[in-house]
Amino acid sequence: MLTRFNHVAIVVPDLEEAKNKYKDVLNANVSEIINYEEHGVSVVFVNLGNTKIELMYPYGEKSPIKNFLEKNMNGAIHHICLEVKDIYKTAEELKKKNIRILGDGTPKNGAHNKPVLFLHPKDFFGTLIELEQE
Ligand code: CO
Repeated sequence: MLTRFNHVAIVVPDLEEAKNKYKDVLNANVSEIINYEEHGVSVVFVNLGNTKIELMYPYGEKSPIKNFLEKNMNGAIHHICLEVKDIYKTAEELKKKNIRILGDGTPKNGAHNKPVLFLHPKDFFGTLIELEQE
């Protein structure tokens, strides 16, 4: 099922500050701040060649990560993203194995314009896992 590691997403209390810290302290290659209105997040990509870190901050009042930031005011790892060959087939197999998929259980277009789904953290040892079509 799994093929590659895609990214780790970290929710931060101040996106500009986090961006500059990765850039100035760790000499990282960072993107500009990108607002994804339809996903309710603002993101900075820390590009690492073989993978990336996504620094995230809530965008708008209905942001899906608003509560997470309120509970983790200093910031925290939000999810990891792993790639799969066939996300639709994967979704069917996971349902058969009684793994809970968040939302209505079908893949939705994610921030990279590829279909993604999220697995319930309680079914995976406390980690929210995003699966993305490779
Ligand atoms: Co993600």
